[in-house]
Amino acid sequence: MKITKAVIPSAGLGTRFLPVTKSMPKEMLPIIDKPVIHYVVEEAIESGIDDIIFVTGRNKRSIEDYFDESPELEMHLKDRHKDDLLKMVQDISSMVDIHYIRQKEPRGLGDAILTARKHISGDPFAVLLGDDIIVNGKPCTQQLIEIHEKYGRSAIAVEDVPQDKVSSYGIIKGTPLDGSLYSIEDIVEKPEPADAPSNIGAIGRYVFTPEIFDCIEKTTAGVGGEVQLTDGIRMLNDIQNVYAYRFTGRRYDTGDKLGYVKAIIDFAMRNEGMGEQVRKYLEEVLSPESTEIRSPRSGKCSCDE
Ligand code: G1P
Repeated sequence: MKITKAVIPSAGLGTRFLPVTKSMPKEMLPIIDKPVIHYVVEEAIESGIDDIIFVTGRNKRSIEDYFDESPELEMHLKDRHKDDLLKMVQDISSMVDIHYIRQKEPRGLGDAILTARKHISGDPFAVLLGDDIIVNGKPCTQQLIEIHEKYGRSAIAVEDVPQDKVSSYGIIKGTPLDGSLYSIEDIVEKPEPADAPSNIGAIGRYVFTPEIFDCIEKTTAGVGGEVQLTDGIRMLNDIQNVYAYRFTGRRYDTGDKLGYVKAIIDFAMRNEGMGEQVRKYLEEVLSPESTEIRSPRSGKCSCDE
């Protein structure tokens, strides 16, 4: 069955990005001029998704506003004949069908996905976590959809993560089937490095058969007292093989400060209008002769923190 629905959980509090996330959802952090969530929605659409369910929480109104129409702004642009900007703004509100469901309390990723169950109504579906931007000609979600189409089972995207970061991921133990595909033997949420079955981590892209909902429902609170998606996947794997796929593409974890900065630098360098100038600037400031940027120890630049 063709996958046309996706769930984007976005109820998290964004504590890794405090204080800015006190009053702004982390999904709305800008990469130059587009918020992170825009790229995630684009990936879903390019993968054939036409119906998106956002699972939001308090403090996430600006996501809804972003994908909604903006009558005053549109009128303003129209009156001033700013047709390109008008089209850009209108295109965003007509990109795709979006529905919003509130998760009343942040009880974990598994619980957030369970909240979307009624809307999914028995179909296979994709899940895209709002932190990750993945750049590739064939979108990562489409890569997983193709695995689902071939095997009729759930598939999760994975990549090698540094050993000292395994405790931030769902980590798999897998049997390689070919170069990129694994049959999952086990999956553990955020293990201590010493207990990790590998360093192959689940990143924020999944395709699930609807049986995942029953499995999440039976899951009791796990790591951090939250209902973990990983525990649901482990249960699903007991009744249906779940595949792990080493996706093709470059992933930016924009929920992490360094990952966010890397995304901005790379997108700025690729930007048609200013890429050349950004490269030149970086070369200048990185050259040994540069006195532009003080060394972290000598100056009191707030970026030292
Ligand atoms: C979640 C999942 C984890 C996965 C990670 C990918 O964790 O629980 O299994 O590896 O996303 O980013 P979170 O980052 O929400 O703590």
